[in-house]
Amino acid sequence: MLRKVKENDMEFLLSLANESEVRKNSMNQDVIDIETHKKWFLKKLTEIKNSTSKMYIYEKNKQKIGQIRLDKKGIFFNIDISVIKINRGQGIAKAMLLELLKTVNNINILAYVKNSNEASKSLFLSSGFKKVKECKDISFYKVKV
Ligand SMILES: CC(C)(COP(=O)(O)OP(=O)(O)OC[C@H]1O[C@@H](n2cnc3c(N)ncnc32)[C@H](O)[C@@H]1OP(=O)(O)O)[C@@H](O)C(=O)NCCC(=O)NCCS
Repeated sequence: MLRKVKENDMEFLLSLANESEVRKNSMNQDVIDIETHKKWFLKKLTEIKNSTSKMYIYEKNKQKIGQIRLDKKGIFFNIDISVIKINRGQGIAKAMLLELLKTVNNINILAYVKNSNEASKSLFLSSGFKKVKECKDISFYKVKV
């Protein structure tokens, strides 16, 4: 189930962010160093306090399995989601996304997805998102909840 992110999730989030598929599917593919991550994470914790971000960790049997995040950007919230490698393909991302969607209302969510990322495309389409635009190798999926 989803729980709110805590300060001691910093290391888990860095290792997940630097996993090769996660980097490959990100807009910026560079490996993230600890100092950059620390600054980013502290900024996120402030944004969460200000309600401009929401970040959750998915845990199963007390193990951290994935993360899901919304970041306010103008009239949209951008979404980011990832699951640890060994637990992919088990419906975890779908469960996380549907649980997150229940916690929000009256917002527009936008997902940027590389066209090569088949799992993400299926995930968003089967969770109520609609493809709204395609630009080079990236497609944009949107939902209003
Ligand atoms: C994308 C990601 C979050 C999906 O997580 P997951 O837990 O494996 O996904 P699920 O098992 O819930 O499956 C979601 C959908 O993707 C499909 N899917 C899963 N793995 C797939 C694969 N390897 N190839 C094609 N489709 C796949 C599932 O069939 C399911 O489709 P459905 O909703 O139509 O039934 C995970 O692969 C990941 O962390 N990837 C690296 C980070 C990333 O790409 N994040 C998204 C950036 S937009």
